[in-house]
Amino acid sequence: MKLSDFFDDDIDRKALREEAIECYRKYINPTYVDMLSMASLDIVEWEREGAYIRDLSGEEFIDCVEGAGCFNIGRHNKEVAEVIKKAVDRFDMGGWIGMIPQRAALAEKLAKICPKGLQYSFFTSGGGEAIDTAIKFAKGAAGKQQIISTINGYHGHTGYALSATGRDIYKGPFLPLMPGFTHVPYNDLNALKAAINDETAGVIMETIQGEGGIIVPDDDYLPGVRKLCDKHNIIMILDEVQTGLGRTGRMFGCEHWNVTPDIMVLSKSFTAGYLPISVTVFNEKVAEFTNANPTIHGNSHGGTSITCLASLAGIEYIEKNDLCRNAETMGKNLMEGLNKLKEKYPGFVKDVRGKGLMIGIEFPNDDIGPLMSAEIRKNGVITIFTFMNPKVVRIMPTLVITEKEVAKILDAYDKSMEVISEQV
Ligand SMILES: Cc1ncc(COP(=O)(O)O)c(C=O)c1O
Repeated sequence: MKLSDFFDDDIDRKALREEAIECYRKYINPTYVDMLSMASLDIVEWEREGAYIRDLSGEEFIDCVEGAGCFNIGRHNKEVAEVIKKAVDRFDMGGWIGMIPQRAALAEKLAKICPKGLQYSFFTSGGGEAIDTAIKFAKGAAGKQQIISTINGYHGHTGYALSATGRDIYKGPFLPLMPGFTHVPYNDLNALKAAINDETAGVIMETIQGEGGIIVPDDDYLPGVRKLCDKHNIIMILDEVQTGLGRTGRMFGCEHWNVTPDIMVLSKSFTAGYLPISVTVFNEKVAEFTNANPTIHGNSHGGTSITCLASLAGIEYIEKNDLCRNAETMGKNLMEGLNKLKEKYPGFVKDVRGKGLMIGIEFPNDDIGPLMSAEIRKNGVITIFTFMNPKVVRIMPTLVITEKEVAKILDAYDKSMEVISEQV
Protein backbone atom coordinates (compact mmCIF):
# COMPACT_ATOMS: atom_id res chain seq x y z
CA MET A 1 0.00 0.00 0.00
CA LYS A 2 1.25 3.49 -0.68
CA LEU A 3 0.44 7.05 0.33
CA SER A 4 -1.01 8.01 -3.05
CA ASP A 5 -3.62 5.17 -2.80
CA PHE A 6 -5.51 7.26 -0.27
CA PHE A 7 -5.94 10.21 -2.60
CA ASP A 8 -6.63 8.32 -5.81
CA ASP A 9 -10.32 8.56 -6.77
CA ASP A 10 -9.92 5.75 -9.29
CA ILE A 11 -8.37 3.26 -6.89
CA ASP A 12 -9.70 -0.30 -7.02
CA ARG A 13 -11.44 -0.20 -3.64
CA LYS A 14 -12.05 -3.93 -3.32
CA ALA A 15 -8.35 -4.62 -3.94
CA LEU A 16 -7.38 -1.91 -1.43
CA ARG A 17 -9.70 -3.54 1.09
CA GLU A 18 -8.06 -6.94 0.66
CA GLU A 19 -4.63 -5.39 0.92
CA ALA A 20 -5.55 -3.48 4.10
CA ILE A 21 -6.82 -6.66 5.77
CA GLU A 22 -3.70 -8.51 4.71
CA CYS A 23 -1.47 -5.77 6.19
CA TYR A 24 -3.50 -5.84 9.41
CA ARG A 25 -2.93 -9.59 9.56
CA LYS A 26 0.75 -9.34 8.77
CA TYR A 27 1.82 -6.15 10.52
CA ILE A 28 -0.72 -5.37 13.24
CA ASN A 29 -2.42 -8.44 14.72
CA PRO A 30 -3.96 -11.44 12.92
CA THR A 31 -5.94 -12.58 15.96
CA TYR A 32 -7.58 -9.19 16.23
CA VAL A 33 -8.71 -9.46 12.60
CA ASP A 34 -10.22 -12.89 13.35
CA MET A 35 -12.03 -11.50 16.39
CA LEU A 36 -13.51 -8.64 14.36
CA SER A 37 -14.64 -11.08 11.74
CA MET A 38 -16.29 -13.36 14.31
CA ALA A 39 -18.13 -10.35 15.75
CA SER A 40 -19.17 -9.21 12.23
CA LEU A 41 -17.23 -6.02 12.78
CA ASP A 42 -14.67 -6.63 10.03
CA ILE A 43 -15.44 -3.31 8.43
CA VAL A 44 -12.75 -1.39 6.58
CA GLU A 45 -13.96 2.19 6.87
CA TRP A 46 -13.56 4.44 3.87
CA GLU A 47 -16.06 7.28 3.47
CA ARG A 48 -17.52 8.79 6.63
CA GLU A 49 -20.21 11.43 6.77
CA GLY A 50 -22.65 12.51 9.50
CA ALA A 51 -24.24 9.38 10.92
CA TYR A 52 -22.83 7.09 8.21
CA ILE A 53 -19.73 5.13 7.33
CA ARG A 54 -19.08 3.30 4.08
CA ASP A 55 -16.85 0.23 3.87
CA LEU A 56 -14.32 -0.05 1.03
CA SER A 57 -16.66 -2.74 -0.35
CA GLY A 58 -19.35 -0.06 -0.80
CA GLU A 59 -21.55 -1.33 2.06
CA GLU A 60 -23.07 1.59 3.98
CA PHE A 61 -23.97 1.65 7.67
CA ILE A 62 -25.37 3.97 10.29
CA ASP A 63 -22.56 4.04 12.85
CA CYS A 64 -23.96 3.48 16.34
CA VAL A 65 -20.56 2.60 17.76
CA GLU A 66 -18.74 5.84 16.98
CA GLY A 67 -15.58 4.60 18.72
CA ALA A 68 -17.72 4.50 21.90
CA GLY A 69 -18.48 8.18 21.57
CA CYS A 70 -15.61 9.76 19.61
CA PHE A 71 -17.78 11.41 16.98
CA ASN A 72 -20.44 13.43 18.76
CA ILE A 73 -20.39 16.09 16.05
CA GLY A 74 -20.77 13.52 13.25
CA ARG A 75 -18.31 11.57 11.17
CA HIS A 76 -15.93 13.73 9.13
CA ASN A 77 -17.39 17.05 10.19
CA LYS A 78 -16.69 19.44 7.32
CA GLU A 79 -16.63 22.65 9.40
CA VAL A 80 -13.97 21.30 11.74
CA ALA A 81 -12.04 19.96 8.75
CA GLU A 82 -11.87 23.49 7.33
CA VAL A 83 -10.53 24.84 10.64
CA ILE A 84 -7.85 22.15 10.72
CA LYS A 85 -6.84 22.90 7.11
CA LYS A 86 -6.48 26.61 7.93
CA ALA A 87 -4.60 25.85 11.15
CA VAL A 88 -2.12 23.56 9.41
CA ASP A 89 -1.52 26.27 6.82
CA ARG A 90 -0.46 28.69 9.57
CA PHE A 91 0.98 26.74 12.47
CA ASP A 92 2.82 23.59 13.46
CA MET A 93 2.03 21.85 16.77
CA GLY A 94 3.74 24.49 18.90
CA GLY A 95 6.37 23.98 21.55
CA TRP A 96 5.46 22.38 24.84
CA ILE A 97 7.78 24.47 27.01
CA GLY A 98 6.69 27.94 25.95
CA MET A 99 3.16 29.31 25.83
CA ILE A 100 0.89 28.94 22.81
CA PRO A 101 -2.25 31.09 22.52
CA GLN A 102 -4.41 28.28 21.08
CA ARG A 103 -3.95 26.27 24.30
CA ALA A 104 -4.82 29.34 26.35
CA ALA A 105 -7.98 29.88 24.30
CA LEU A 106 -9.15 26.29 24.76
CA ALA A 107 -8.46 26.39 28.51
CA GLU A 108 -10.49 29.61 28.75
CA LYS A 109 -13.37 28.03 26.81
CA LEU A 110 -13.34 24.98 29.07
CA ALA A 111 -13.45 27.12 32.21
CA LYS A 112 -16.55 28.81 30.75
CA ILE A 113 -18.46 25.67 29.79
CA CYS A 114 -17.47 23.24 32.57
CA PRO A 115 -19.41 23.15 35.83
CA LYS A 116 -18.52 26.19 37.94
CA GLY A 117 -15.21 25.98 39.75
CA LEU A 118 -13.48 23.68 37.23
CA GLN A 119 -11.17 26.45 36.13
CA TYR A 120 -7.84 24.84 35.28
CA SER A 121 -6.87 22.49 32.45
CA PHE A 122 -4.04 20.04 31.87
CA PHE A 123 -3.90 18.71 28.30
CA THR A 124 -2.85 15.21 27.23
CA SER A 125 -3.41 13.02 24.17
CA GLY A 126 -5.68 10.11 25.17
CA GLY A 127 -8.26 9.19 27.78
CA GLY A 128 -6.01 6.86 29.76
CA GLU A 129 -3.28 9.48 29.97
CA ALA A 130 -5.75 12.06 31.24
CA ILE A 131 -7.02 9.60 33.88
CA ASP A 132 -3.42 8.98 34.98
CA THR A 133 -3.04 12.75 35.31
CA ALA A 134 -6.25 13.03 37.34
CA ILE A 135 -5.14 10.33 39.78
CA LYS A 136 -1.68 11.87 40.19
CA PHE A 137 -3.20 15.28 40.86
CA ALA A 138 -5.70 13.82 43.36
CA LYS A 139 -2.89 12.11 45.27
CA GLY A 140 -0.78 15.24 45.18
CA ALA A 141 -3.61 17.51 46.30
CA ALA A 142 -4.73 15.19 49.11
CA GLY A 143 -1.22 14.28 50.19
CA LYS A 144 -2.43 10.68 50.47
CA GLN A 145 -2.12 7.56 48.35
CA GLN A 146 -5.31 5.46 48.39
CA ILE A 147 -7.78 5.62 45.51
CA ILE A 148 -11.26 4.09 45.46
CA SER A 149 -12.75 3.14 42.09
CA THR A 150 -15.65 0.97 40.99
CA ILE A 151 -16.12 -2.65 39.94
CA ASN A 152 -16.78 -2.81 36.18
CA GLY A 153 -15.63 0.79 35.84
CA TYR A 154 -13.47 1.35 32.76
CA HIS A 155 -10.82 4.05 32.65
CA GLY A 156 -8.33 2.88 30.02
CA HIS A 157 -5.21 0.76 29.73
CA THR A 158 -2.40 3.03 30.93
CA GLY A 159 -0.75 2.80 34.39
CA TYR A 160 -3.04 4.41 36.93
CA ALA A 161 -6.05 4.13 34.60
CA LEU A 162 -5.68 0.33 34.37
CA SER A 163 -5.23 0.12 38.13
CA ALA A 164 -8.50 2.03 38.55
CA THR A 165 -10.32 -0.10 35.96
CA GLY A 166 -12.54 -2.62 37.70
CA ARG A 167 -11.99 -5.70 35.57
CA ASP A 168 -9.30 -8.29 36.33
CA ILE A 169 -9.16 -9.80 32.85
CA TYR A 170 -7.25 -6.76 31.55
CA LYS A 171 -4.69 -6.93 34.33
CA GLY A 172 -3.49 -10.53 34.74
CA PRO A 173 -0.13 -10.55 32.90
CA PHE A 174 0.82 -7.10 34.17
CA LEU A 175 0.49 -7.61 37.90
CA PRO A 176 1.47 -6.06 40.19
CA LEU A 177 -0.12 -2.81 39.05
CA MET A 178 -0.08 0.47 40.98
CA PRO A 179 -0.67 -0.13 44.68
CA GLY A 180 -3.35 1.55 46.77
CA PHE A 181 -6.50 0.88 44.69
CA THR A 182 -9.73 -0.45 46.21
CA HIS A 183 -12.71 -1.35 44.02
CA VAL A 184 -16.27 -1.07 45.29
CA PRO A 185 -19.61 -1.78 43.58
CA TYR A 186 -20.86 1.14 41.48
CA ASN A 187 -24.06 2.85 42.58
CA ASP A 188 -23.59 1.68 46.18
CA LEU A 189 -23.02 4.50 48.67
CA ASN A 190 -22.72 2.17 51.66
CA ALA A 191 -19.90 0.24 49.99
CA LEU A 192 -18.11 3.48 49.22
CA LYS A 193 -18.59 4.75 52.77
CA ALA A 194 -17.19 1.50 54.17
CA ALA A 195 -14.09 1.70 51.94
CA ILE A 196 -13.10 5.23 52.97
CA ASN A 197 -10.30 5.47 55.51
CA ASP A 198 -7.71 7.96 56.70
CA GLU A 199 -5.48 7.20 53.72
CA THR A 200 -8.13 7.81 51.04
CA ALA A 201 -6.97 10.48 48.60
CA GLY A 202 -9.69 10.27 45.97
CA VAL A 203 -12.55 8.40 44.38
CA ILE A 204 -12.89 7.92 40.64
CA MET A 205 -15.89 6.73 38.70
CA GLU A 206 -17.69 7.20 35.40
CA THR A 207 -20.72 9.45 35.52
CA ILE A 208 -22.57 6.64 33.72
CA GLN A 209 -20.70 3.35 33.43
CA GLY A 210 -20.13 2.76 29.71
CA GLU A 211 -18.16 -0.43 29.11
CA GLY A 212 -19.73 -1.90 32.25
CA GLY A 213 -23.09 -2.03 30.43
CA ILE A 214 -24.52 1.53 30.31
CA ILE A 215 -25.30 1.66 34.02
CA VAL A 216 -27.10 4.88 34.95
CA PRO A 217 -26.70 5.52 38.69
CA ASP A 218 -29.65 6.16 41.01
CA ASP A 219 -30.42 9.84 41.43
CA ASP A 220 -28.98 9.98 44.94
CA TYR A 221 -25.68 8.28 44.05
CA LEU A 222 -23.45 11.01 42.62
CA PRO A 223 -24.77 13.69 45.03
CA GLY A 224 -24.09 11.17 47.82
CA VAL A 225 -20.52 10.60 46.55
CA ARG A 226 -20.02 14.38 46.52
CA LYS A 227 -21.22 14.63 50.14
CA LEU A 228 -18.95 11.81 51.30
CA CYS A 229 -15.97 13.39 49.55
CA ASP A 230 -16.70 16.76 51.19
CA LYS A 231 -17.15 15.18 54.61
CA HIS A 232 -13.86 13.25 54.45
CA ASN A 233 -11.90 15.83 52.46
CA ILE A 234 -11.43 13.46 49.49
CA ILE A 235 -10.93 14.45 45.85
CA MET A 236 -13.86 13.42 43.63
CA ILE A 237 -12.87 12.52 40.06
CA LEU A 238 -15.52 12.02 37.39
CA ASP A 239 -14.53 10.24 34.20
CA GLU A 240 -16.61 11.94 31.48
CA VAL A 241 -14.63 10.43 28.62
CA GLN A 242 -17.81 8.86 27.18
CA THR A 243 -20.48 11.02 28.81
CA GLY A 244 -18.93 14.43 28.10
CA LEU A 245 -19.66 16.97 25.39
CA GLY A 246 -23.35 16.51 24.82
CA ARG A 247 -23.62 12.72 24.69
CA THR A 248 -26.23 12.42 27.46
CA GLY A 249 -28.29 15.47 26.45
CA ARG A 250 -26.29 17.87 28.67
CA MET A 251 -22.85 19.27 27.94
CA PHE A 252 -21.52 17.09 30.81
CA GLY A 253 -23.23 14.07 32.31
CA CYS A 254 -22.80 15.31 35.88
CA GLU A 255 -25.15 18.23 35.10
CA HIS A 256 -28.10 15.77 35.27
CA TRP A 257 -27.45 15.51 39.01
CA ASN A 258 -26.08 19.03 39.65
CA VAL A 259 -22.85 17.53 40.90
CA THR A 260 -19.47 19.19 40.36
CA PRO A 261 -16.43 16.98 40.89
CA ASP A 262 -13.02 18.33 41.91
CA ILE A 263 -11.52 16.83 38.75
CA MET A 264 -13.25 15.92 35.48
CA VAL A 265 -11.69 14.05 32.56
CA LEU A 266 -12.64 14.49 28.90
CA SER A 267 -11.36 12.77 25.77
CA LYS A 268 -13.13 10.83 22.96
CA SER A 269 -15.29 13.57 21.36
CA PHE A 270 -13.04 16.28 22.74
CA THR A 271 -10.87 15.43 19.73
CA ALA A 272 -13.66 16.74 17.46
CA GLY A 273 -13.28 13.39 15.69
CA TYR A 274 -9.92 14.18 14.11
CA LEU A 275 -6.87 14.58 16.32
CA PRO A 276 -5.87 13.09 19.66
CA ILE A 277 -6.38 15.36 22.65
CA SER A 278 -7.70 14.86 26.16
CA VAL A 279 -7.97 17.09 29.19
CA THR A 280 -8.07 16.93 32.95
CA VAL A 281 -9.98 19.93 34.33
CA PHE A 282 -9.81 20.75 38.00
CA ASN A 283 -10.67 23.23 40.71
CA GLU A 284 -8.74 25.57 43.00
CA LYS A 285 -8.24 22.91 45.66
CA VAL A 286 -6.36 20.69 43.20
CA ALA A 287 -4.63 23.70 41.66
CA GLU A 288 -2.97 24.43 45.00
CA PHE A 289 -0.90 21.31 44.31
CA THR A 290 -0.23 21.97 40.60
CA ASN A 291 0.58 25.64 41.21
CA ALA A 292 3.10 24.62 43.85
CA ASN A 293 4.56 21.98 41.48
CA PRO A 294 4.20 23.38 37.95
CA THR A 295 6.63 20.93 36.29
CA ILE A 296 5.94 17.79 38.31
CA HIS A 297 3.86 16.33 35.46
CA GLY A 298 4.21 16.95 31.74
CA ASN A 299 4.18 15.66 28.15
CA SER A 300 5.18 16.77 24.65
CA HIS A 301 1.95 16.43 22.69
CA GLY A 302 -0.85 17.52 25.03
CA GLY A 303 -2.84 20.41 23.59
CA THR A 304 -0.96 21.39 20.44
CA SER A 305 -1.90 24.48 18.43
CA ILE A 306 -3.74 22.37 15.86
CA THR A 307 -5.57 20.02 18.25
CA CYS A 308 -6.66 22.94 20.44
CA LEU A 309 -8.15 24.79 17.47
CA ALA A 310 -9.91 21.60 16.31
CA SER A 311 -11.33 21.09 19.82
CA LEU A 312 -12.50 24.70 20.00
CA ALA A 313 -14.23 24.27 16.63
CA GLY A 314 -15.83 21.02 17.82
CA ILE A 315 -17.19 22.62 20.99
CA GLU A 316 -18.50 25.61 19.03
CA TYR A 317 -20.23 23.20 16.64
CA ILE A 318 -22.01 21.51 19.55
CA GLU A 319 -23.15 24.89 20.91
CA LYS A 320 -24.13 26.45 17.59
CA ASN A 321 -26.19 23.45 16.52
CA ASP A 322 -27.71 22.85 19.94
CA LEU A 323 -26.54 19.24 19.84
CA CYS A 324 -27.25 18.66 23.54
CA ARG A 325 -30.91 19.29 22.81
CA ASN A 326 -30.82 17.06 19.73
CA ALA A 327 -29.19 14.29 21.80
CA GLU A 328 -31.97 14.62 24.35
CA THR A 329 -34.79 14.62 21.77
CA MET A 330 -33.40 11.86 19.56
CA GLY A 331 -32.48 9.87 22.66
CA LYS A 332 -36.12 10.04 23.81
CA ASN A 333 -37.31 8.90 20.38
CA LEU A 334 -34.91 5.97 20.43
CA MET A 335 -35.83 4.97 23.98
CA GLU A 336 -39.55 5.11 23.17
CA GLY A 337 -39.05 2.92 20.10
CA LEU A 338 -36.82 0.47 21.96
CA ASN A 339 -39.29 0.20 24.82
CA LYS A 340 -41.97 -0.69 22.26
CA LEU A 341 -39.63 -3.44 20.99
CA LYS A 342 -39.19 -4.60 24.58
CA GLU A 343 -42.96 -5.11 24.72
CA LYS A 344 -43.01 -6.77 21.28
CA TYR A 345 -40.25 -9.25 22.26
CA PRO A 346 -41.05 -9.98 25.92
CA GLY A 347 -38.34 -11.89 27.76
CA PHE A 348 -35.88 -11.28 24.93
CA VAL A 349 -35.24 -7.62 25.74
CA LYS A 350 -34.63 -7.43 29.47
CA ASP A 351 -33.98 -3.73 29.84
CA VAL A 352 -33.56 -0.53 27.88
CA ARG A 353 -31.69 2.24 29.67
CA GLY A 354 -29.52 5.28 29.24
CA LYS A 355 -29.51 9.05 28.96
CA GLY A 356 -29.62 11.08 25.78
CA LEU A 357 -27.81 9.16 23.07
CA MET A 358 -25.95 6.83 25.41
CA ILE A 359 -28.30 3.86 25.38
CA GLY A 360 -27.92 0.21 26.28
CA ILE A 361 -30.22 -2.73 25.58
CA GLU A 362 -29.81 -5.66 27.91
CA PHE A 363 -30.50 -9.18 26.65
CA PRO A 364 -30.93 -12.28 28.83
CA ASN A 365 -27.38 -13.62 28.37
CA ASP A 366 -23.87 -12.83 27.12
CA ASP A 367 -24.26 -14.76 23.83
CA ILE A 368 -27.10 -12.61 22.54
CA GLY A 369 -25.22 -9.29 22.43
CA PRO A 370 -22.68 -10.52 19.85
CA LEU A 371 -25.43 -12.33 17.84
CA MET A 372 -27.49 -9.15 17.74
CA SER A 373 -24.50 -7.04 16.68
CA ALA A 374 -23.90 -9.43 13.76
CA GLU A 375 -27.56 -9.47 12.69
CA ILE A 376 -27.97 -5.70 12.90
CA ARG A 377 -25.00 -5.26 10.59
CA LYS A 378 -26.98 -7.16 7.93
CA ASN A 379 -29.66 -4.48 8.36
CA GLY A 380 -27.30 -1.57 7.75
CA VAL A 381 -26.47 -0.53 11.31
CA ILE A 382 -23.25 -1.03 13.26
CA THR A 383 -23.64 -1.55 16.99
CA ILE A 384 -21.47 -3.39 19.45
CA PHE A 385 -21.95 -5.05 22.81
CA THR A 386 -20.24 -3.42 25.80
CA PHE A 387 -16.85 -5.06 26.38
CA MET A 388 -17.23 -5.68 30.09
CA ASN A 389 -20.86 -6.77 29.90
CA PRO A 390 -21.55 -8.46 26.52
CA LYS A 391 -25.26 -9.05 27.17
CA VAL A 392 -25.69 -5.28 26.72
CA VAL A 393 -25.62 -3.81 23.23
CA ARG A 394 -24.91 -0.09 23.15
CA ILE A 395 -26.43 2.46 20.82
CA MET A 396 -24.29 5.59 20.65
CA PRO A 397 -24.91 7.32 17.32
CA THR A 398 -23.65 10.79 16.48
CA LEU A 399 -25.51 13.69 18.10
CA VAL A 400 -26.32 15.10 14.65
CA ILE A 401 -28.62 12.14 13.99
CA THR A 402 -32.04 12.87 12.45
CA GLU A 403 -35.53 11.44 13.07
CA LYS A 404 -35.30 9.53 9.80
CA GLU A 405 -32.04 7.88 10.86
CA VAL A 406 -33.49 7.02 14.29
CA ALA A 407 -36.39 5.30 12.48
CA LYS A 408 -33.88 3.31 10.40
CA ILE A 409 -32.03 2.18 13.54
CA LEU A 410 -35.28 1.06 15.17
CA ASP A 411 -36.32 -0.79 12.04
CA ALA A 412 -32.93 -2.58 11.95
CA TYR A 413 -33.36 -3.59 15.60
CA ASP A 414 -36.89 -4.82 15.02
CA LYS A 415 -35.85 -7.00 12.06
CA SER A 416 -32.80 -8.32 13.92
CA MET A 417 -34.74 -9.10 17.11
CA GLU A 418 -37.31 -11.02 15.07
CA VAL A 419 -34.56 -13.31 13.73
CA ILE A 420 -32.40 -13.70 16.85
CA SER A 421 -35.27 -14.11 19.33
CA GLU A 422 -36.35 -17.16 17.27
CA GLN A 423 -32.84 -18.69 17.48
CA VAL A 424 -32.19 -18.49 21.20
C1 LIG B 1 -14.96 5.97 30.33
C2 LIG B 1 -13.62 5.84 29.68
N1 LIG B 1 -12.54 6.32 30.31
C3 LIG B 1 -11.32 6.25 29.77
C4 LIG B 1 -11.13 5.66 28.54
C5 LIG B 1 -9.75 5.57 27.95
O1 LIG B 1 -9.61 6.41 26.85
P1 LIG B 1 -8.51 6.11 25.74
O2 LIG B 1 -8.97 4.91 24.98
O3 LIG B 1 -8.50 7.36 24.91
O4 LIG B 1 -7.22 5.91 26.46
C6 LIG B 1 -12.23 5.17 27.85
C7 LIG B 1 -12.08 4.54 26.52
O5 LIG B 1 -12.93 3.92 25.96
C8 LIG B 1 -13.51 5.26 28.43
O6 LIG B 1 -14.59 4.78 27.81
